[in-house]
Amino acid sequence: MEKFKICGPSKLSGEVIIGGAKNATLPVLCSSILTSDTIEISNVPKLRDVSTMLSLLGEMGASFKFDPLSKICEINTDSLFSVEASYDLVKTMRASILVLGPLLARFGQAKVSLPGGCAIGQRPVDQHIKGLRQMGANIKIEDGYIIAETTGLKGTTIKNDIITVTGTENLMMAACLADGETLIENAAMEPEIVDLASCLRSMGAIIFGDGTNKISIHGSKKLSGCKHEIVFDRIEAGTYLCAVAACGGDVLLKNVNTLNMKMIIKKLQKFGGEIFDCGTSIRVKFSKRPESVSFDTAPFPGFPTDMQAQFMAVNAIARGTAKIRENIFENRFMHVQELQRLGAMIKVKASTATITGVENLRGANVMATDLRASAGLVIAAISANGNSSIDRIYHLDRGYEQMDRKLNSIGASVQRIKS
Ligand code: EPU
Repeated sequence: MEKFKICGPSKLSGEVIIGGAKNATLPVLCSSILTSDTIEISNVPKLRDVSTMLSLLGEMGASFKFDPLSKICEINTDSLFSVEASYDLVKTMRASILVLGPLLARFGQAKVSLPGGCAIGQRPVDQHIKGLRQMGANIKIEDGYIIAETTGLKGTTIKNDIITVTGTENLMMAACLADGETLIENAAMEPEIVDLASCLRSMGAIIFGDGTNKISIHGSKKLSGCKHEIVFDRIEAGTYLCAVAACGGDVLLKNVNTLNMKMIIKKLQKFGGEIFDCGTSIRVKFSKRPESVSFDTAPFPGFPTDMQAQFMAVNAIARGTAKIRENIFENRFMHVQELQRLGAMIKVKASTATITGVENLRGANVMATDLRASAGLVIAAISANGNSSIDRIYHLDRGYEQMDRKLNSIGASVQRIKS
């Protein structure tokens, strides 16, 4: 296992190139199941979750070539021989559930392990199942597996009871090969959904309304190969913006735009930072201690739960008291205990955390518990006085490409060592 040794505090300056979005890459890789042609995906980040998804598709018989240097991945599912996603892989990455809709749509059957709960919450998949049943699939749950079959999915109107990102993606992909029109109401509106829809359209799918809460998909008999470039990772970008807010400095993020990040940027400005929209780059400048910022997490265009831990880390050293309410996942405050080890003053009551900023955090040994929690700990540790170590950084490698190198290139001191 590896850990980070961090020596703080740092002031950050320079440039960071932001990669393609993990949460767009995973569904786009699964969309390859919908066609027997090759799809060529560019701007694919080299992340552990991406390798896990490629292994899962590979185990089912997909062939792929991924060049991490050019960031291009070619994938073909013509010779797929299995429609099963085993527990061993699904348990390591919940996004594996994204094979369910495409498998059912193209092959009429799928057997996918139930993802089960995870560190940040229960995370059921009832909405995925309900929607597919409405499209005519027979689905039973047996021995921990979702076993689904159909003689042909039929377009219908599906009203999701709650807003779900991967649920919307699964239904959107399944509907592409269904007979007739599917209307998904109360759909998620995240930029990653828009990116998936744009890839599906390049494959020949007819989709309207992505980016709104009503998506209409007119089923096609067949989809074809395509080329698609993955949208930038707004959460990776937001994480570096928070690092600058906590440490101070002047940094240019490249290959991004402000359109997908309006809420994140609005809240960052409240911390007291200057943000400059430079077209395909964003410049962020912090020259004084941040002011505390309160927020509630919500589906897009609200404040993303995936940025909650990083904003909490900044609030830990901000002037004043902030309240953060986590509305998406029931157990996404596991970083609180670790931030407290670094000297943060945080109280949690039910889904609300109250953070009273201290002038300086102190280095300490802490443990990463999930992907975004780890990012929050890294931000806190690079701004803290003294040495810290962060254990279990495999969580970080799931969703951040070379975070240590990127941070060091702008002035932090982060060393990756074997523990
Ligand atoms: N939910 C249900 N039933 C369902 C589906 C979801 O009750 O059938 C609940 C969940 O338990 C949760 C809420 O609805 O309380 C929202 O969950 P959602 O389905 O939107 O989450 P997800 O699709 O599993 C994606 C991202 C997460 C991100 C959430 C929320 C991917 C691969 N994952 O998860 O990303 O936090 O949306 O924005 O897109 C991360 O990158 O660190 C990460 C966890």
